[in-house]
Amino acid sequence: MTTRKVPPRLPTRALARRAADVVVVLHGPNLNLLGTREPEIYGHETLPQLDAKLVSLGRELGLTVECLQSSHEGVLVDWLHAAAQRSDVLGVVLNAGAYTHTSLALHDAIAGIRLPCVEVHLSNVAAREEIRRTSLIAPACIGTISGFGADSYALGIRALVGYRARA
Ligand code: DQA
Repeated sequence: MTTRKVPPRLPTRALARRAADVVVVLHGPNLNLLGTREPEIYGHETLPQLDAKLVSLGRELGLTVECLQSSHEGVLVDWLHAAAQRSDVLGVVLNAGAYTHTSLALHDAIAGIRLPCVEVHLSNVAAREEIRRTSLIAPACIGTISGFGADSYALGIRALVGYRARA
């Protein structure tokens, strides 16, 4: 009988720890209506068009961009928790829509996870009605980008990459 020596297994690339390369983009209430909702404020681009741009920016940057939309506060909270449970997520870009100005629950969810979160807005909320000038989520985020339309999201993704590189 011949015995064959089995060489020790070398660590393969697949076994090596994967770098976090996913950016989760969360769109809050009413953002599913983009394209037809107050286009003079939010523009004519639809949400699927915006998401496609972000996915393609992600590819350019070597990232996977995953976009989700919900009009429900608790669902957004759950998605923040779920993103933080994963080891492949670099951070979150969040347009919390009107919940920006009202949601302590979203503030607490962002503050309670270890993932960096960038607050973004299509419109320049600082230049709009008084109530939009207050953000309950801002203190829990690493920064806010507001007023650049779809570019606010793109800048948010780039900001996360820079933040992670410095961390
Ligand atoms: C918004 C600004 C919020 O005040 C508003 O409620 C939205 C969209 C923006 O992207 O400009 O729904 O977050």
